[in-house]
Parts: sequence; C-alpha cells; structure tokens
Amino acid sequence: MYNGVTEQWNVRRAVGTAPSAACLPKEFGLTGKELQFMPGAGQQAAAAESGSALPSQASAGDEAIGHQPVLLEEVLQGLSPAAGQTWVDVTVGGGGHAWHLAQAIGPQGRLIALDQDPQMLKLARRRLQGLPVELVQARFEDLPAVLADCGVAAVDGVLADLGFASDQMDAPQRGLSFRHDGPLDMRLDPHRELTAAAIVNSWSEAELARILWEYGEERFSRRIARRIVEQRRRRPLHSTRELAELVRSCVPRRGGIDPATRTFQALRIAVNAELEALDRLLALLPGVVRPGGRVGIISFHSLEDRRVKQAFRDARFWQVLTKKPVVPTAAEIARNPRARSAKLRIAQRTGQQAVPHPFHHPHDPLPRR
Ligand SMILES: C[S@@+](CC[C@H](N)C(=O)[O-])C[C@H]1O[C@@H](n2cnc3c(N)ncnc32)[C@H](O)[C@@H]1O
Repeated sequence: MYNGVTEQWNVRRAVGTAPSAACLPKEFGLTGKELQFMPGAGQQAAAAESGSALPSQASAGDEAIGHQPVLLEEVLQGLSPAAGQTWVDVTVGGGGHAWHLAQAIGPQGRLIALDQDPQMLKLARRRLQGLPVELVQARFEDLPAVLADCGVAAVDGVLADLGFASDQMDAPQRGLSFRHDGPLDMRLDPHRELTAAAIVNSWSEAELARILWEYGEERFSRRIARRIVEQRRRRPLHSTRELAELVRSCVPRRGGIDPATRTFQALRIAVNAELEALDRLLALLPGVVRPGGRVGIISFHSLEDRRVKQAFRDARFWQVLTKKPVVPTAAEIARNPRARSAKLRIAQRTGQQAVPHPFHHPHDPLPRR
C-alpha cells in the first residue's frame, strides 16, 4: 500500500517522454529536446488517406499493437479535451486513446499516462513517440501521489478504460485467456505477488466459491470450487488449459459462451484486486479533477459499471453527462468484437474548488463541501 510520496518511486518507473523534469527521476535523463510534436499537416494528410474523421495514427508505430481503442469517437466527443489542457489517461494500455487525447490538447497541453503493466507502457511508448506524454508505471489508485510528483494540483480530465488490453489477453504467458495454454498467472502488474495459480491451489473451497459467485456471477460456483479442490488434491493446477477443461467438464455450455469465461473473469478480478482499485479511483477522483473538468470511464462488466454509475450519482461532485451508458455501434462491434460489452459513462466535476490532494488518502472519507 502506498503511504508516502517518497515511496512512490518504488512503485513506479517513468518510461516515456516528458515535458517536465518534475515528473521524472533524474536517472531517466530526458530533456525537453525529446518533445517533438508531429506536424499538423502530416496528421491531416494521414487522416484524409485513411478516410477517417479522426486523425490517423498510422505513422505512430502502432502496427504491432493488437488493441483497438473502444468507443473512441464517443470518448473524444463526450470528454472534449481542448488545446492546452492537462489530462490523465489512467489506463494507457497501447496508447490508442492517449494518442488522440495528446493530439487534442496539443503541444501546450500535458498528458500524464499511467499503466501498471510495463509491457503495455513499452507499446504505448512506441505509439506515443514524439508526443508530450508523460508515461508512468503506477496503479491508478496512486494517482494523487503521481500527480503530486508531477507538480500537478488538479487536472482538466481523466480517462479510465478498465480491464485489460488485447495484447495482454493474447499473450499466452500472461495466462489471461482460456483460448491459449499458458501458466495460471493473470497478473497485469508483474510486481504483484498473488497469481491465479496461488488462488486455485491454496484458497479454501468456500473462498473459491465466493469469488466465482461474486466476481464471475457464476451460478455453478460451488460445483466448480469443489472440483478444483478435488483436482488439486491429486495434482496442483498450473495451466490455463487444465483449468478451462476442468470448468468445461462440470458446467453445461449455454449459448455461444465458453463455460470457462466466468471463472477466468473471477480469477482475473481477484488476482488484480480490480474492484478495490476501481472503488479507490472513484473515491479519489473528486480530489484531482478541477471544477468543470470531465471524467470518462469505460467498463466491461456490470460489477464495474454499477460502481461507476453509483459514484457519479454523488451530486456534491458530479453532474452526469451520460444519462444512459454509451455503448458501441453495431459497426464498431463488427470491426472489433471485443468492444461488445463496453459501456462509457461521463461526468463533469461540479463545485467551485478541487478537494486538496495528495494527502487525501483514498480510504479517508471525502471532505464535505
Ligand atoms: C483496456 S486497456 C486500455 C487500452 C487503451 N485505452 C488503448 O486505447 O490502448 C486497460 C489497461 O489498463 C491497465 N490497468 C488495469 N488496471 C489498472 C490499474 N489499477 N492501474 C493502472 N493500470 C491499470 C491494464 O494493464 C491495461 O493496459
């Protein structure tokens, strides 16, 4: 748990270009010279070539990045990032949304982009090369401390695109997918200790059933937990294939969905403490977004969306700009089937003054206004 600014350097490593030395430890030795903006004329030409209303990223080194940003036009329209503003992308992933945010805020703007996964930061770094983006390896629960280190008191907007990127899902060694055989790992931050293997091989049957039920909304949770415990008495489970086959052998197939889907979702949420992280993010946002600033959150399942909806209902801090969540068009789903469960909610910070940070800890009750 982060509890002081000085410790922050233990949990994050800046890996990208930076307009401000304040945000980077000296050893990265980056200078303002590394900040080059892509020429506007080039962008327009690329946009015209791709037939897109949005500027093209084709020249931004994204050919090796599998992840496609979801609800991109809706995010940009709803959040309206403007030239010269300061934004945070707390889940930069492959940098898809970040690239467009950086274009919108321009060379006078500032984009601080976080990810807990150093592999994704490497991809983002390639795609965002030349743009004034400060890449930081950190969990978004630590956002107030990251901003304090960057010398930023309040931001004009925050984007969170929750969950995982296609590049993480498609890497068998990450153990996130039942479609590939790999180790039962599932950590998005490789510095965390808890793995999916540790959970399935050491947690009690009751605890296993609980997370399958709560995080996977799996109605066969008890049955699967019992089978896992029986199986591990004979031999511990180590691979995604073993676990997926075990689940398939005891859960009936319904519709086109693989029976292992919910179990994998539950384990991933537990390994990465995803719901706790989201709760903390939602609690700290009023303290970092300036009045009039906007927050957009893209979630991928009801456990997340429910939390976002609830948090944005707090009229002390937010005016909801999306009465109903924005969902992808049929055309986007056809282009990118992984977008199908995405839901975007946007809120605008109300009030006159930002709640001070960084000493506001996410677990503390928010100051009353
Ligand atoms: C859906 S992807 C983001 C994709 C990105 N918007 C794009 O267009 O390329 C989600 C990213 O959030 C990161 N992530 C998830 N939980 C996080 C957390 N608590 N703190 C920081 N990063 C997190 C994951 O590692 C992953 O790279």
